[in-house]
Amino acid sequence: MSTYTIETATSRANPTPAPMRRLTVPKLQARKGGEPIVALTAYTTRMAQLLDPHCDLLLVGDSLGQVIYGLSSTIPVSLDMMCAHGAAVVRGSWHAVVAIDMPFGSYEASPAQAFESAARVMKETGAAAVKLEGGEAMAETVSFLTRRGIPVIGHVGLTPQAVNMLGGYGARGSDPKESAKILADAKAVDAAGCFAMVLEGMVEDLAIDVTRAVSCPTIGIGASAQCDGQILVAEDMLGLFERTPRFVKRYDDLAGRIGATASAYAADVRARTFPGEDQTYQRKK
Ligand code: KIV
Repeated sequence: MSTYTIETATSRANPTPAPMRRLTVPKLQARKGGEPIVALTAYTTRMAQLLDPHCDLLLVGDSLGQVIYGLSSTIPVSLDMMCAHGAAVVRGSWHAVVAIDMPFGSYEASPAQAFESAARVMKETGAAAVKLEGGEAMAETVSFLTRRGIPVIGHVGLTPQAVNMLGGYGARGSDPKESAKILADAKAVDAAGCFAMVLEGMVEDLAIDVTRAVSCPTIGIGASAQCDGQILVAEDMLGLFERTPRFVKRYDDLAGRIGATASAYAADVRARTFPGEDQTYQRKK
């Protein structure tokens, strides 16, 4: 059952600003070679509300496995998780295109399996698009979905769901054979109809070659500033984790600030200075 239309305007969870017109998939697709696409991940309503005014694309990434659930990879992430977080992000956004990652095991077996999973994601979340990892092997699936009304974002290079085949999360494409394979993968999903493509963790010259070779916009993460847009995991960019990949620029130190704030709260509780007068109810005289 769909939950994304529930009206929560009276709740503190939904401080809705003046309604904005949501960007569309064709408008994002038309940004090839133009104004860079600003994208971040989001997994919760509140984070979506805060990021949405600044972003063109919010991705409910399966990185939520590590970021939200403390899993060691994206492999255990389920469709249930993606649907629940996807609906939360759609509820918290008015402007950006919201796309949802297809989790490992929900799409690789066949185009029909992918359609069934993607249709569930679209119905239950209200998102406009899905993203799936893979190149030539996924081209038929990308074409199957797009011809049936499901916009798809491709994802090539470092594909974290394939970590067991890749042997780790290092940058891809240093050897010419692997570089040629990634270029062929990108061309295949582009020709199959994806409207945008994530280029993750690859040597910069390959990211530039792919960006020139494909007709859809490329969105880089650990790729190149010459991609048609950039994406980061929001919590990485905000400095919520001490350890982040080399390609992450930490724009804040949320981990440090949250620690300091929790410490101030703990000190107040121990000193019985919280709650104070402003935070307590007195009988009306
Ligand atoms: O899962 C994710 O967050 C992603 C982005 C980092 C591109 O795939």
